[in-house]
Amino acid sequence: MGSSRWKVAAAAFLVVVGSLLPVDGDEHEHTYTDKEEVVLWMNTVGPYHNRQETYKYFSLPFCAGSKKTISHYHETLGEALQGVELEFSGLDIKFKEEVMQTTYCEIELDKAKRDAFVYAIKNHYWYQMYIDDLPIWGIVGEADENGEDHYLWTYKKLEIGFNGNRIVDVNLTSEGKVKLVPNTRIAMSYSVKWKKSDVKFEDRFDKYLDPSFFQHRIHWFSIFNSFMMVIFLVGLVSMILMRTLRKDYARYSKEEEMDDMDRDLGDEYGWKQVHGDVFRPSSHPLIFSSLIGSGCQIFSVSLIVIIVAIVEDLYTERGSMLSTAIFVYAATSPVNGYFGGSLYAKQGGRRWIKQMFIGAFMIPAMVCGTAFFINFIAIYYHASRAIPFGTMVAVCCICFFVILPLNLVGTILGRNLSGQPNFPCRVNAVPRPIPEKKWFMEPAVIVCLGGILPFGSIFIEMYFIFTSFWAYKIYYVYGFMMLVLVILCIVTVCVTIVCTYFLLNAEDYRWQWTSFLSAASTAVYVYMYSFYYYFFKTKMYGLFQTSFYFGYMAVFSTALGIMCGAVGYMGTSAFVRKIYTNVKID
Ligand SMILES: *[C@@H]1O[C@H](CO)[C@@H](O)[C@H](O)[C@H]1NC(C)=O
Repeated sequence: MGSSRWKVAAAAFLVVVGSLLPVDGDEHEHTYTDKEEVVLWMNTVGPYHNRQETYKYFSLPFCAGSKKTISHYHETLGEALQGVELEFSGLDIKFKEEVMQTTYCEIELDKAKRDAFVYAIKNHYWYQMYIDDLPIWGIVGEADENGEDHYLWTYKKLEIGFNGNRIVDVNLTSEGKVKLVPNTRIAMSYSVKWKKSDVKFEDRFDKYLDPSFFQHRIHWFSIFNSFMMVIFLVGLVSMILMRTLRKDYARYSKEEEMDDMDRDLGDEYGWKQVHGDVFRPSSHPLIFSSLIGSGCQIFSVSLIVIIVAIVEDLYTERGSMLSTAIFVYAATSPVNGYFGGSLYAKQGGRRWIKQMFIGAFMIPAMVCGTAFFINFIAIYYHASRAIPFGTMVAVCCICFFVILPLNLVGTILGRNLSGQPNFPCRVNAVPRPIPEKKWFMEPAVIVCLGGILPFGSIFIEMYFIFTSFWAYKIYYVYGFMMLVLVILCIVTVCVTIVCTYFLLNAEDYRWQWTSFLSAASTAVYVYMYSFYYYFFKTKMYGLFQTSFYFGYMAVFSTALGIMCGAVGYMGTSAFVRKIYTNVKID
């Protein structure tokens, strides 16, 4: 490996890091002197019920104010991916300068323009603007009761609250209802009122949060409920562990009466019989270790992003959540390489380069594939979600120049540091035949049932997360999310341990895939839940929004499934190692 390649990678890494961090220009300082220009950015317009179906504001035949000069504006990668399309409104607003109702432009309403507005009003279009990074929403127009006449709101009444030299509050009132009649002129007007406000600059986003929604009794109750489940499961698993490790304990405290119970439960005929097979490599080790590596990476990404979100209020900046997630994903690639590579080496795999490529690109390919497919529809719709070409190139560069090299580092470390198969039991040369067993002990059944409890522990949280993504709530209770992640991991590990224990007791040694899949089946339940959510909790419609919803829900569920699977497998593999360490081979 030449050193020049590393330099290139390092340079690319710096470039990427630079482009992900928000650029600190004048506009980002959020302080103003009197009469300094305050920019009103028009963002997007779109149907109220389809949050992700957004178009440029000026794709509707609105007119812009006369002011044209505007300083350059930087976009972060997260913004570009989320379809933020800021365009200058052309309105003349100066800090602490009142503006009486002023006409800023006129729309020559011909037939085509009228139809465009009528279509927008029928579909409940609303638009979004930004002042000093504070979002403002307004509705395009209104239809009368019988749906024949359509009216446009033409007067934007802005009330801006300031505290010292900072903007802390913005209210928009839409007035001036004008009936849409072809071949008329419609005057668009605005006014600006400045008010002193006591809101602190740090707290200015608080009014967008909805504590009565997120800190509802249901939310607390569900956390409490899951907590009870955790206690029960941990108790169950410790009981199993106690029983299997009984001999060690019995040596210290001579408890003879336990023997009867064990004979009834058939300890000696169960899992101990398969000691020569449990550490046999799984089938398809290449795919398996890639999945485990990716799952470990997703887990670390979730953990880090949630911690960052708790520490910093990421919701106050457009697209910063996504940028952070991409950055953390790239930076945690060694985790993927380490766990995937070491597991593959332990299972005796030889094509480690192939494994590394598959492991590194599994998740990016899944996400980019979905994004690419949805992009086609977005382009067809002329939606602002269509990902610009430059952004695609940037994402590909991150994959090849950051993720891949970091993954390589992780793989090499993993293979060398923990790539030796050091199992407590020898693997027999000839695989033991798997005896017939009851239908509910079949791996397929265990896999299906395994996901129910993990899903049960998260589905209330899923409702809150979905609502903040697909409807207009800002998710801010990341402490809850952290708690739920921890609970999910504990439940998943416990459930897979119990499943594996039953499987091994039925003298079936194919526990690796079973433990992974029984945890990963959580994803199937989450995806099924997303169907319920779509039909009963949202009013989305249209090809674009529907495919966006189901496409990204599939990506989300799969990622969640891979994460649960990896967590479950890791926990189970520690359990299996533990119980077989004490087996005397005779
Ligand atoms: C905006 O509206 C809210 C609620 O009606 C009000 O409390 C606040 O003072 C208003 N802010 C400004 C700047 O007018």
